[in-house]
Amino acid sequence: MTTTADYTEKIPNNVNLHEDRRLQRALESWQPNFLNWWQTMGPTLPTRDVYLRTAINVGRDGWAQFGHVAMPEYRWGIFLAERDPGRKVGFGEHKGEPVWDKVPGEYRAELQRLIVIQGDTEPASVEQQRNLGATAPSLYDLRNLFQVNVEEGRHLWAMVYLLHAYFGREGREEAEELLHRNSGSLDSPRILGAFNEETPDWLSFYMFTYFTDRDGKYQLGTLKESAFDPLSRTCEFMLKEEAHHMMVGTTGVDRVVQRTVEVMREHDTGDVAGLGAIPLPVIQKYLNFHYSVSLDLFGGDTSTNVANYYTAGLKGRWLEDRRKDDHKLTSDAIMVDALSEDANGELSIGQTEVSALVGLNTDLRREYTSDCQGGVKRWNRILEEGGVSGRLKLPHAAFNRKVGAFAAIEATPDGEKIPAEEWQRRQGEWLPTEVDKTYVRSLMQPVHQRGKIAAWIAPPRNGINGQPFDYDYVHLA
Ligand SMILES: [Fe+2]
Ligand SMILES: [Fe+2]
Repeated sequence: MTTTADYTEKIPNNVNLHEDRRLQRALESWQPNFLNWWQTMGPTLPTRDVYLRTAINVGRDGWAQFGHVAMPEYRWGIFLAERDPGRKVGFGEHKGEPVWDKVPGEYRAELQRLIVIQGDTEPASVEQQRNLGATAPSLYDLRNLFQVNVEEGRHLWAMVYLLHAYFGREGREEAEELLHRNSGSLDSPRILGAFNEETPDWLSFYMFTYFTDRDGKYQLGTLKESAFDPLSRTCEFMLKEEAHHMMVGTTGVDRVVQRTVEVMREHDTGDVAGLGAIPLPVIQKYLNFHYSVSLDLFGGDTSTNVANYYTAGLKGRWLEDRRKDDHKLTSDAIMVDALSEDANGELSIGQTEVSALVGLNTDLRREYTSDCQGGVKRWNRILEEGGVSGRLKLPHAAFNRKVGAFAAIEATPDGEKIPAEEWQRRQGEWLPTEVDKTYVRSLMQPVHQRGKIAAWIAPPRNGINGQPFDYDYVHLA
């Protein structure tokens, strides 16, 4: 049984926070720092209220309520999915044992690290997106931006709850650090590269929510398998919210492609720059950038740390229980990306066999890639139905990598290895140039009138929570 959170409490929650006064006080003293961070690093566009979804429960029917909320009064709660009392560890050397309600001493440092890395991404994306409200293409999109932002804020709360509740003084210090690091900061940047990149325009925002939030979905999916049950239950609930972020990205790119097709047909040209739409080659370049930096988030192609996390039961595989193997992988193998060297010392793109445990990052990254193909397929269907011959595609895994085996070389989106000098000369063919970015930015004129939309994007097929597109999703200040 779960109960609906009590929203008269300072920190709404379903974890019986009032029964642990020490923990409650610690979180209540972190709360003003969080609100201060939200004020200084969160959304910059002043609003009176926004039509937002707020989590209130974790049950099967109705876990959220919708209503117009003044942003500073939004309530960030702590929610863990329902406990399964019979849950057993699903993989690794503890497979079949009961899951853990406390942090085992020998895995303390590793678990804390995993939680901090996940926690660091949540506020980072809010920081990256903070100025987008000023150029929103419609009130519907503006509302979705704020929805994503408040939920990333809640995901930070989710990780901070774990740090405070299970990791003592060190956990509390890490919770403070999560507010001190900032996206793009020179002195104390966010931990992972993609979270220090800018999100300066709405095409970037849709690509980010499609490709980078989707990395988050896969990381949460592995942590949901964890033998540390509070982490598992936290991530399970976060995944529910994350689905909306994916939808914003998927349909956002849909609508950009749709509009480009319309303008191409109307003017019978592919050269739609200057006609107020985003040319297909520019969409492809943004896709290339966001996909390749998101691949880097999966870490090295091989990792003994991740092998150890798996064996210890800290972090599983995507959909662990659907895998048809022994869930220990001690005698399995996997092919991973690698560079091979010929007799002349010439490097080439290839693969090598490693133990399945050591190749777990590759396993997760491949699951992610096949999921990403789904988006490309639907965008290409829009092109096809519009009678346009161009197609989008995911670049090769070797393209524009800063992490993993392919970081050492340069390659085209087709996976052809090229000399560094050629990369320097030609990268503007594949990644957004200053000219591309300036053009996209020039389109980013705000449309804040009810029912209206910018000319570079098609309206959505559906509104939010059954409301029409022209609903008053946001009241500006
Ligand atoms: Fe998140
Ligand atoms: Fe997200």
